[in-house]
Amino acid sequence: MVVFSILGTFIVAKRYYAVKERNKMKIIKASDYEQLSEKAAKITIELVKEKPDAVLGLATGGTPVLTYKLLVDYHRKLHMSFRDVKTINLDEYIGLPEDHPQSYHYFMYNKLFNHIDIRPENIHIPRGNARNLAEECIRYDEILEILHPIDLQLLGIGSNGHIGFNEPGTPFSKKTYITKLSTSTRKANERFFQEEETVPEYAITMGIASILKSKKILLLASGKSKAEAVKQLVLGEMDEQFPASALKQHDNVTILADNQALEELQKVKRI
Ligand code: GLP
Repeated sequence: MVVFSILGTFIVAKRYYAVKERNKMKIIKASDYEQLSEKAAKITIELVKEKPDAVLGLATGGTPVLTYKLLVDYHRKLHMSFRDVKTINLDEYIGLPEDHPQSYHYFMYNKLFNHIDIRPENIHIPRGNARNLAEECIRYDEILEILHPIDLQLLGIGSNGHIGFNEPGTPFSKKTYITKLSTSTRKANERFFQEEETVPEYAITMGIASILKSKKILLLASGKSKAEAVKQLVLGEMDEQFPASALKQHDNVTILADNQALEELQKVKRI
Protein backbone atom coordinates (compact mmCIF):
# COMPACT_ATOMS: atom_id res chain seq x y z
CA MET A 1 0.00 0.00 0.00
CA VAL A 2 2.76 2.40 1.04
CA VAL A 3 4.71 1.46 -2.06
CA PHE A 4 1.69 2.22 -4.26
CA SER A 5 1.13 5.56 -2.62
CA ILE A 6 4.81 6.55 -3.04
CA LEU A 7 4.67 5.40 -6.65
CA GLY A 8 1.45 7.37 -7.18
CA THR A 9 3.01 10.54 -5.79
CA PHE A 10 6.03 10.06 -8.03
CA ILE A 11 3.90 9.61 -11.15
CA VAL A 12 1.79 12.69 -10.36
CA ALA A 13 4.93 14.72 -9.56
CA LYS A 14 6.58 13.61 -12.81
CA ARG A 15 3.54 14.52 -14.86
CA TYR A 16 3.26 17.90 -13.17
CA TYR A 17 6.97 18.46 -13.77
CA ALA A 18 6.60 17.74 -17.48
CA VAL A 19 3.63 20.09 -17.85
CA LYS A 20 5.39 22.80 -15.89
CA GLU A 21 8.40 22.55 -18.17
CA ARG A 22 6.33 22.82 -21.30
CA ASN A 23 4.86 26.08 -20.08
CA LYS A 24 8.27 27.60 -19.63
CA MET A 25 9.19 27.91 -23.31
CA LYS A 26 8.24 31.26 -24.71
CA ILE A 27 7.26 31.52 -28.37
CA ILE A 28 7.78 34.68 -30.40
CA LYS A 29 6.03 34.67 -33.76
CA ALA A 30 7.49 36.31 -36.84
CA SER A 31 5.66 36.73 -40.12
CA ASP A 32 8.61 35.62 -42.23
CA TYR A 33 12.36 35.05 -42.31
CA GLU A 34 13.12 38.77 -42.56
CA GLN A 35 11.09 39.63 -39.48
CA LEU A 36 12.53 36.68 -37.57
CA SER A 37 16.04 37.90 -38.35
CA GLU A 38 15.20 41.47 -37.33
CA LYS A 39 13.85 40.26 -33.98
CA ALA A 40 16.85 38.00 -33.36
CA ALA A 41 19.27 40.82 -34.18
CA LYS A 42 17.35 43.22 -31.92
CA ILE A 43 17.44 40.81 -28.96
CA THR A 44 21.20 40.41 -29.45
CA ILE A 45 21.82 44.15 -29.80
CA GLU A 46 19.79 44.95 -26.70
CA LEU A 47 21.88 42.51 -24.69
CA VAL A 48 25.17 43.93 -25.98
CA LYS A 49 24.01 47.51 -25.24
CA GLU A 50 23.15 46.49 -21.70
CA LYS A 51 26.23 44.33 -21.26
CA PRO A 52 29.06 45.31 -23.65
CA ASP A 53 31.19 42.32 -22.59
CA ALA A 54 28.37 39.80 -23.05
CA VAL A 55 29.20 36.20 -23.94
CA LEU A 56 27.33 35.14 -27.07
CA GLY A 57 26.93 31.49 -28.03
CA LEU A 58 26.71 31.43 -31.81
CA ALA A 59 25.22 29.03 -34.34
CA THR A 60 25.80 28.42 -38.03
CA GLY A 61 23.56 27.05 -40.78
CA GLY A 62 21.29 28.94 -43.12
CA THR A 63 18.95 30.33 -40.46
CA PRO A 64 21.15 32.92 -38.68
CA VAL A 65 22.71 34.33 -41.89
CA LEU A 66 20.43 37.37 -42.09
CA THR A 67 20.63 37.94 -38.32
CA TYR A 68 24.41 38.23 -38.66
CA LYS A 69 24.05 40.57 -41.63
CA LEU A 70 21.80 42.81 -39.55
CA LEU A 71 24.33 42.82 -36.71
CA VAL A 72 26.94 43.94 -39.23
CA ASP A 73 24.54 46.71 -40.36
CA TYR A 74 24.09 47.86 -36.75
CA HIS A 75 27.87 48.07 -36.47
CA ARG A 76 28.41 49.87 -39.77
CA LYS A 77 25.47 52.23 -39.81
CA LEU A 78 24.73 52.78 -36.13
CA HIS A 79 28.28 52.38 -34.80
CA MET A 80 27.29 49.55 -32.51
CA SER A 81 30.47 48.18 -30.97
CA PHE A 82 31.23 44.49 -30.35
CA ARG A 83 34.70 45.26 -29.06
CA ASP A 84 34.36 43.53 -25.72
CA VAL A 85 31.87 40.84 -26.72
CA LYS A 86 33.07 37.26 -26.40
CA THR A 87 31.75 34.56 -28.69
CA ILE A 88 31.76 30.81 -28.52
CA ASN A 89 30.49 28.74 -31.43
CA LEU A 90 28.62 25.49 -31.20
CA ASP A 91 30.32 23.24 -33.67
CA GLU A 92 32.61 22.56 -36.62
CA TYR A 93 33.04 19.83 -39.21
CA ILE A 94 35.94 17.43 -38.77
CA GLY A 95 38.54 17.45 -41.49
CA LEU A 96 37.72 20.67 -43.34
CA PRO A 97 40.50 23.27 -43.44
CA GLU A 98 39.49 26.51 -41.74
CA ASP A 99 39.54 28.33 -45.08
CA HIS A 100 37.20 25.82 -46.74
CA PRO A 101 34.03 27.74 -47.79
CA GLN A 102 31.86 25.24 -45.91
CA SER A 103 33.83 25.21 -42.69
CA TYR A 104 32.09 26.97 -39.84
CA HIS A 105 35.27 29.01 -39.29
CA TYR A 106 34.94 30.40 -42.79
CA PHE A 107 31.21 30.95 -42.32
CA MET A 108 31.59 32.91 -39.09
CA TYR A 109 34.43 35.16 -40.30
CA ASN A 110 32.76 35.69 -43.64
CA LYS A 111 29.27 36.46 -42.32
CA LEU A 112 30.14 38.27 -39.11
CA PHE A 113 33.58 38.52 -37.52
CA ASN A 114 35.41 40.14 -40.47
CA HIS A 115 32.85 42.94 -40.52
CA ILE A 116 32.60 43.96 -36.86
CA ASP A 117 35.12 45.22 -34.31
CA ILE A 118 35.25 42.11 -32.11
CA ARG A 119 38.76 41.32 -30.80
CA PRO A 120 40.19 38.17 -32.44
CA GLU A 121 41.16 36.72 -29.05
CA ASN A 122 37.51 36.86 -27.98
CA ILE A 123 36.37 34.53 -30.79
CA HIS A 124 36.12 30.80 -30.06
CA ILE A 125 35.23 28.07 -32.55
CA PRO A 126 36.09 24.39 -32.07
CA ARG A 127 38.97 23.27 -34.31
CA GLY A 128 37.75 20.45 -36.48
CA ASN A 129 41.18 19.93 -37.96
CA ALA A 130 43.09 19.76 -34.67
CA ARG A 131 45.70 16.99 -34.66
CA ASN A 132 44.45 15.58 -31.41
CA LEU A 133 40.68 15.83 -31.33
CA ALA A 134 40.33 14.43 -27.82
CA GLU A 135 42.58 17.24 -26.57
CA GLU A 136 40.60 19.75 -28.60
CA CYS A 137 37.41 18.68 -26.81
CA ILE A 138 39.13 19.22 -23.45
CA ARG A 139 40.49 22.60 -24.59
CA TYR A 140 37.03 23.71 -25.67
CA ASP A 141 35.46 22.63 -22.39
CA GLU A 142 38.12 24.62 -20.54
CA ILE A 143 37.20 27.71 -22.56
CA LEU A 144 33.54 27.08 -21.79
CA GLU A 145 34.34 26.81 -18.08
CA ILE A 146 35.99 30.23 -18.21
CA LEU A 147 33.27 31.89 -20.29
CA HIS A 148 30.20 30.33 -18.69
CA PRO A 149 27.52 31.29 -18.23
CA ILE A 150 26.90 32.20 -21.86
CA ASP A 151 24.55 35.20 -21.70
CA LEU A 152 22.68 34.41 -24.89
CA GLN A 153 22.93 31.13 -26.80
CA LEU A 154 21.60 31.28 -30.34
CA LEU A 155 20.45 27.94 -31.72
CA GLY A 156 19.02 26.63 -34.94
CA ILE A 157 17.23 23.31 -35.11
CA GLY A 158 17.69 20.42 -37.50
CA SER A 159 14.54 18.83 -38.91
CA ASN A 160 15.51 15.72 -36.88
CA GLY A 161 15.66 17.88 -33.74
CA HIS A 162 19.43 18.29 -33.58
CA ILE A 163 20.91 21.33 -31.85
CA GLY A 164 24.53 22.18 -32.60
CA PHE A 165 25.57 18.81 -33.98
CA ASN A 166 23.95 16.86 -31.15
CA GLU A 167 22.20 14.17 -33.10
CA PRO A 168 19.24 11.97 -32.02
CA GLY A 169 20.33 9.56 -29.28
CA THR A 170 22.89 11.91 -27.70
CA PRO A 171 22.85 11.82 -23.89
CA PHE A 172 21.81 15.18 -22.49
CA SER A 173 24.80 15.02 -20.14
CA LYS A 174 27.41 15.44 -22.90
CA LYS A 175 30.07 18.14 -22.94
CA THR A 176 32.19 18.80 -26.06
CA TYR A 177 32.69 15.62 -28.10
CA ILE A 178 33.19 14.17 -31.57
CA THR A 179 29.95 13.08 -33.17
CA LYS A 180 29.06 11.04 -36.22
CA LEU A 181 26.59 12.98 -38.32
CA SER A 182 23.30 11.28 -39.12
CA THR A 183 22.36 10.56 -42.71
CA SER A 184 19.50 13.06 -42.50
CA THR A 185 21.79 15.87 -41.27
CA ARG A 186 24.36 15.18 -43.97
CA LYS A 187 21.57 15.15 -46.54
CA ALA A 188 20.12 18.43 -45.21
CA ASN A 189 23.54 20.11 -45.37
CA GLU A 190 24.39 18.83 -48.86
CA ARG A 191 22.81 22.00 -50.22
CA PHE A 192 25.75 24.06 -48.99
CA PHE A 193 28.42 21.90 -50.64
CA GLN A 194 29.56 21.70 -54.27
CA GLU A 195 28.23 18.75 -56.25
CA GLU A 196 31.53 16.88 -56.30
CA GLU A 197 32.12 17.40 -52.56
CA THR A 198 30.86 15.16 -49.79
CA VAL A 199 29.55 16.41 -46.47
CA PRO A 200 32.00 15.39 -43.71
CA GLU A 201 30.96 12.37 -41.69
CA TYR A 202 32.06 13.70 -38.33
CA ALA A 203 31.89 16.94 -36.40
CA ILE A 204 33.00 18.38 -33.09
CA THR A 205 30.18 19.91 -31.08
CA MET A 206 29.45 21.57 -27.79
CA GLY A 207 27.38 19.07 -25.83
CA ILE A 208 23.86 19.56 -24.56
CA ALA A 209 25.03 19.89 -20.93
CA SER A 210 27.08 22.96 -21.90
CA ILE A 211 24.26 24.47 -23.95
CA LEU A 212 21.94 24.11 -20.96
CA LYS A 213 24.28 26.15 -18.75
CA SER A 214 23.53 29.29 -20.81
CA LYS A 215 21.54 32.03 -19.10
CA LYS A 216 19.19 32.52 -22.03
CA ILE A 217 18.60 30.40 -25.13
CA LEU A 218 17.10 31.76 -28.34
CA LEU A 219 16.15 29.06 -30.84
CA LEU A 220 15.48 30.23 -34.38
CA ALA A 221 13.29 28.25 -36.75
CA SER A 222 12.31 29.32 -40.22
CA GLY A 223 10.46 27.62 -43.06
CA LYS A 224 8.24 24.62 -43.63
CA SER A 225 11.07 22.11 -43.25
CA LYS A 226 11.20 23.01 -39.51
CA ALA A 227 7.43 22.88 -38.87
CA GLU A 228 7.34 19.27 -37.59
CA ALA A 229 10.39 19.81 -35.40
CA VAL A 230 8.90 22.95 -33.84
CA LYS A 231 5.67 21.10 -33.12
CA GLN A 232 7.54 18.23 -31.50
CA LEU A 233 9.71 20.63 -29.51
CA VAL A 234 6.69 22.41 -28.05
CA LEU A 235 4.33 19.47 -27.57
CA GLY A 236 6.59 16.45 -27.17
CA GLU A 237 8.10 14.97 -24.03
CA MET A 238 11.80 15.13 -23.18
CA ASP A 239 13.44 12.40 -25.20
CA GLU A 240 17.08 11.85 -26.17
CA GLN A 241 15.88 10.78 -29.61
CA PHE A 242 14.90 14.42 -30.10
CA PRO A 243 17.87 16.45 -28.82
CA ALA A 244 16.15 19.86 -28.77
CA SER A 245 13.69 18.50 -26.18
CA ALA A 246 16.52 18.84 -23.63
CA LEU A 247 15.70 22.56 -23.67
CA LYS A 248 12.58 21.76 -21.66
CA GLN A 249 14.86 21.52 -18.63
CA HIS A 250 15.90 25.14 -19.04
CA ASP A 251 13.90 28.01 -17.59
CA ASN A 252 14.77 30.72 -20.10
CA VAL A 253 14.19 29.42 -23.63
CA THR A 254 12.57 31.46 -26.37
CA ILE A 255 11.55 29.91 -29.66
CA LEU A 256 11.56 32.58 -32.35
CA ALA A 257 9.82 31.11 -35.37
CA ASP A 258 8.22 32.35 -38.55
CA ASN A 259 4.75 31.47 -39.78
CA GLN A 260 5.90 28.59 -41.93
CA ALA A 261 7.85 27.00 -39.11
CA LEU A 262 4.80 27.35 -36.84
CA GLU A 263 2.37 25.89 -39.35
CA GLU A 264 2.12 22.36 -37.88
CA LEU A 265 2.02 23.55 -34.27
CA GLN A 266 -0.74 26.02 -35.05
CA LYS A 267 -2.92 23.24 -36.49
CA VAL A 268 -3.18 21.72 -33.00
CA LYS A 269 -2.46 24.55 -30.59
CA ARG A 270 -3.45 28.21 -30.41
CA ILE A 271 -0.40 30.35 -29.91
C1 GLP B 1 23.40 22.53 -38.88
C2 GLP B 1 24.18 23.10 -37.69
C3 GLP B 1 23.26 23.55 -36.61
C4 GLP B 1 22.13 24.29 -37.25
C5 GLP B 1 21.24 23.30 -37.95
C6 GLP B 1 20.13 23.92 -38.79
O1 GLP B 1 23.79 21.30 -39.29
N1 GLP B 1 25.16 22.24 -37.14
O2 GLP B 1 23.97 24.36 -35.67
O3 GLP B 1 21.36 24.97 -36.30
O4 GLP B 1 22.02 22.38 -38.68
O5 GLP B 1 20.64 24.48 -39.95
P1 GLP B 1 19.83 25.43 -40.92
O6 GLP B 1 19.70 26.72 -40.22
O7 GLP B 1 20.68 25.52 -42.15
O8 GLP B 1 18.53 24.80 -41.18
